[in-house]
Amino acid sequence: MYSSLIKPVLFRLPAETAHHVAFGALRAAHAVPGVKALLRARFAPRDPALEISALGLRFPSPIVLAAGFDKNAAGYEALCSLGFGAVEVGTITGRAQPGNPQPRLFRLPADRALLNRMGFNNCGSLSASERLRRARTDLVGVNIGKTKAVADEAAISDYVESTERLGPLADYLVVNVSSPNTPGLRDLQAVSRLRPLLEAVKDTLTRVAGERRPPLLVKIAPDLADPEIVAVADLAVELGLDGIVATNTTIARAGLATPAPEVEALGSGGISGRPLQARALAVLRLLRERVGARLTLVAAGGIESVDDAWERLKAGATLLQIYTAFIYEGPELPSRLSRGLLARARAEGFDTLQAALAFHHSPRGVLAAAAGGP
Ligand SMILES: Cc1cc2nc3c(=O)[nH]c(=O)nc-3n(C[C@H](O)[C@H](O)[C@H](O)COP(=O)(O)O)c2cc1C
Repeated sequence: MYSSLIKPVLFRLPAETAHHVAFGALRAAHAVPGVKALLRARFAPRDPALEISALGLRFPSPIVLAAGFDKNAAGYEALCSLGFGAVEVGTITGRAQPGNPQPRLFRLPADRALLNRMGFNNCGSLSASERLRRARTDLVGVNIGKTKAVADEAAISDYVESTERLGPLADYLVVNVSSPNTPGLRDLQAVSRLRPLLEAVKDTLTRVAGERRPPLLVKIAPDLADPEIVAVADLAVELGLDGIVATNTTIARAGLATPAPEVEALGSGGISGRPLQARALAVLRLLRERVGARLTLVAAGGIESVDDAWERLKAGATLLQIYTAFIYEGPELPSRLSRGLLARARAEGFDTLQAALAFHHSPRGVLAAAAGGP
């Protein structure tokens, strides 16, 4: 129904308008008594065979909605009713801000991609904390970034402010230093800048959440050179972080099917979806090789099909994030992916997805894969 009826209508609208229409309709429908139960029965029936233990949490499915869709934590419950194992809300900044001028989100259908320069349009950490204070049963990761108006020298205090407000309410917290649309943000990935930032966020989390400190992750860009990725991975291990989200959108423009002048005419921004696939997978492999099982790796970037998802799990990811494919494929995608993954696991003789992961992430599994095994 999505492909034949809903998508053709949504794709006639400007991309950001389509987002608000679709997300608004989902939230409105979800608020009608009985609809939540119907959606969950259809898209998210609880199945222990799909559950994944990661970051000290039990995810009902490894398929997570990537940051940027629910920037203000306004509809994570409705999104989980579509079968996401968690929603990563944000990016939320210390203060509310409008983001870049519109238009700032574009489709590249020939590439199954999106180009965005949203610029962290969001309601700010105070307002988001009010939304996240409500009791919930779904898992919500919180992704934080820097307020544009805050000077680079004061970036740490902006992240600390968000951590104080949102850390105790998050199931996991992600420090985003990798969006291309806030000037100077990605410079924070240099170890000399990243170390004090991550130390400050971690200390703040421990101070405000105590024993119940939620897991802390950092989200990186695919455009870092390999030695820079290795340096961030080493730092994350050294500082006792829990994981890395790899990757954010790319500023690279090579190899697109959309004609270069058309892409240029859209202006600056980060590209997501299929063009990101190969690099995001390579970054994941590099991280896995460097950190082994010491960090939880969360894969993002061009995951569209069960094949892609299975490949990322085998390459070392424990959780899988999607955004762009959700726009192109529609609401059935999360459940289609998790069911498809379970079918793969069962075809290899495992009863559960967790058992398949345990094998593929073990030294035996890694050796078997290297030898061309399952
Ligand atoms: C419109 C749009 C907005 C995004 N906003 C954010 C954001 O606010 N914070 C963030 O960390 N990533 C953001 N992302 C990046 C996604 O979380 C994800 O890392 C990236 O799109 C790669 O996944 P995909 O290929 O499945 O889309 C955004 C992506 C898109 C398409």
